[in-house]
Amino acid sequence: MYMSRLNLLEETRFEKLPVKVFANQLEASKMVARRIADLIIAKQSKGEKAVLGLATGVTPINVYKELIRLHREEDLSFHNVITFNLDEYYPMKADAEQSYVTFMNENLFNHIDIDRANVHIPDGTLSREAMEAFCLTYEQKITACNGLDIQLLGIGRTGHIGFNEPGSAPNSGTRLVTLADLTRRDASRDFGGKEKVPTKAITMGIGTIFKAKEIILMAWNEKKAAIVKKAVEGEISADVPATYLQLSDNVEFILDAGAASELTRFNTPWLVKDCIWKEAMIKKAVIWLAQTLNKPILKLTEEDYNNHGMAQLATEQGPVYNINIHIFNKIQHTITGWPGGKPNADDSQRPERAEPAVKRSIVFSPHPDDDVISMGGTFIRLADQGHDVHVAYQTSGNTAVWDDDALRYVEFAIDFSRSEGKDTTELENQYQQMRSFFETKLPNQADTVQIRTIKGLIRKGEAIAGARFAGLPDSNIHFQSLPFYDRQKTQKNVSFEDDIEQTMQLLQAIKPQQVFAAGDFADPHGTHKVCFDIIQQALTRLKETEDWVADCWLWLYRGAWHEFAIHEIEMAVPLSPQEVERKRLAIFKHQSQKDLPVFPGDDAREFWVRAEHRTSETAKAYDGLGLANYEAIEAFKRWEF
Ligand code: F6R
Repeated sequence: MYMSRLNLLEETRFEKLPVKVFANQLEASKMVARRIADLIIAKQSKGEKAVLGLATGVTPINVYKELIRLHREEDLSFHNVITFNLDEYYPMKADAEQSYVTFMNENLFNHIDIDRANVHIPDGTLSREAMEAFCLTYEQKITACNGLDIQLLGIGRTGHIGFNEPGSAPNSGTRLVTLADLTRRDASRDFGGKEKVPTKAITMGIGTIFKAKEIILMAWNEKKAAIVKKAVEGEISADVPATYLQLSDNVEFILDAGAASELTRFNTPWLVKDCIWKEAMIKKAVIWLAQTLNKPILKLTEEDYNNHGMAQLATEQGPVYNINIHIFNKIQHTITGWPGGKPNADDSQRPERAEPAVKRSIVFSPHPDDDVISMGGTFIRLADQGHDVHVAYQTSGNTAVWDDDALRYVEFAIDFSRSEGKDTTELENQYQQMRSFFETKLPNQADTVQIRTIKGLIRKGEAIAGARFAGLPDSNIHFQSLPFYDRQKTQKNVSFEDDIEQTMQLLQAIKPQQVFAAGDFADPHGTHKVCFDIIQQALTRLKETEDWVADCWLWLYRGAWHEFAIHEIEMAVPLSPQEVERKRLAIFKHQSQKDLPVFPGDDAREFWVRAEHRTSETAKAYDGLGLANYEAIEAFKRWEF
């Protein structure tokens, strides 16, 4: 039976393979690139070939960028390099936008001096009959090169390495496989919809990967944290193929802080080492203890603390009942029905200031429906309580409208014009052009400017309807349609200067005391992060010259995908059952996103169902900790800028 490798470090005692954690992915990627470069140079000095196993996806991009930089600026040559890529979709033409051949050319091979004869990528154009022989030859070629010197890996959220999905055997070789549903959903963005993602792929097997002399698995950001924890700390199982790597003596996981965040030593460090017990950690630990034991905070005992790695806290800051009361009160003070502050009330223990009683607030919504999905109850309440509430829709969200919806709106425009006795020739021409465009549209091909405009207008109408429903006058509804959103599709390295400028102008015109922004940086669109950076830049720049910014508080909410952990919440706005229903109706105004959105992410439920589930989960968590039992809670966290 396999014995896990001896781990003498207390801090990493739950980790079953070597892990290095870097502050960010750039630093980590540079280190990996350096290791590859050193190998290539060492082999060159001996007149030998360096054999690399390469991965695609977003994870290795910065490694490839650094290798290109080393080639350009430090004369690193790839003349002695042979590469084998892990995988390719099947079927897939080599020159398709989504092929891994295109990916490798664009991100590495076109920019270095590698001999193309030394590049191997599984062939997505083969017939099924030719497959077996091809896979066998792929393996033989690797063996003939004396095996892979370094194999780079990413990890999928199913725990796949290469495209070895759950159920793969540890001794599997190169073969044709079926992709897991979650993998196809994750890839849907590249293909413009899950149904366009191939169902199959050719992948090196786990056995093939294992033969590499060095295996480096990289993972970045919180989106990967849960699967990384399973791969590193979980039991070896076919359910999570990456756990097989625990059996290798030549593997290393390279993580950024986000991807490492759920490992025991970072998530619950009190279980593996002595801690410096500051307020934030005490809050996190006490909530964790209560949730682990399924007990209200005020019922936690000395024994509970001692048995769960928190004896040090109990000794240093006990008696534990005092700690319990302190944390209970802290959480209690996050709850407020007055998200704009309660007028004429003592605000020393409230999340928001009492003054000014009527606040100018602005809700920034990255896509046109994030406002109502994520903080619809609070939005409605702010308006009900008489604040001067504005909403700014940052992007047009025009990629997330179905083609047939766009046609339907143009048909309406034609019919309406006709009913008014107007000439519709021009509109009909445009309509026909649109139809023919859709008929030949390739997966993920960008729409024409005209179609993008129509799709954006559809979402604009819905956003305005939602904001009106929440109680806003039209003058307070701002559809920014920031230019970066369209530009991002056609250009890499886009600049955000005009987006920041436009946002500064809006903020300066409103001079808000409160800004609400989407702070879910792990959002699969990435758009949320860009939108947040634009707001933060705009506020930071305005702060230099404008006095009002010093009194402006920035509150983060989370988008449709995640929620803050309970210990992170600084303002919890409870919703009554009626408010939950009003919020639902506001979300319903976004008809183009109903039933089946173009980008559902990894949750098949409709947005309103997810939103209600999430807010009721937060309410249940508060209840479970022994606080009041509400129908739903929307959560916020402050951001200092
Ligand atoms: C890519 C591959 C996959 C990816 C994994 C992570 O060649 O085989 O296993 O490494 O799906 O993908 P990203 O890096 O896009 O998160």
